[in-house]
Amino acid sequence: MDVKEAIEKRRAYRSLDPVEIGDDLIQDLAECARLFCSCFNNQPWQYVFVRDAEMLKKMHDALSQGNEWARAASMIIAVYSKPEFDCMIKGRNYYLFDTGMATAAIILRATELGFVAHPIAGYSPRKTKEILGIPDDVEVITLVIVGKHSDTLSPVLSEKQIQAEKERPERKPLQEFVHIDRYSERI
Ligand SMILES: Cc1cc2nc3c(=O)[nH]c(=O)nc-3n(C[C@H](O)[C@H](O)[C@H](O)COP(=O)(O)O)c2cc1C
Repeated sequence: MDVKEAIEKRRAYRSLDPVEIGDDLIQDLAECARLFCSCFNNQPWQYVFVRDAEMLKKMHDALSQGNEWARAASMIIAVYSKPEFDCMIKGRNYYLFDTGMATAAIILRATELGFVAHPIAGYSPRKTKEILGIPDDVEVITLVIVGKHSDTLSPVLSEKQIQAEKERPERKPLQEFVHIDRYSERI
């Protein structure tokens, strides 16, 4: 699979089947983050790869309403960082940008390997830190829910989520966000 294909194949699926998570997979995904670029090569990203059944069960408590589907995760990657881990240039703080890029590399690689890797914002950072022992002074930026895409619809999905399972949610046309040469010129 080439990069473009992985970008096109990646979807935020919510119907998940269990899948074995080996050390080699974690190593592979972590290596993809490791190789990514960052401001001054600061590498501000931190990850907790949660795959132990008991720990995954505990993490159910951290999921927000509407994310019950994520209880079927075979792995949850907790992504965290803080501004001080990366460039802070006159109010421009790069930790979220760099951590986001490295995490996108993880997501695309997971897609290439046949997994669903679905980032979510609907969770309690406080509970996540408590459960995983993550220090208090960092930001939990996302949880990436990992599993195998299931042909059977998850029974906990809303109508909207069922629709998104069948068809990729609509995207803005390029004209709404691409400018050529100057702001006033649209693609
Ligand atoms: C930062 C971020 C937070 C998200 N939070 C949630 C979430 O809490 N629950 C959920 O079901 N999906 C969540 N999503 C998935 C998006 O809803 C999804 O990516 C979007 O609808 C586009 O669908 P697609 O990724 O399948 O193309 C999140 C995605 C991102 C990048």
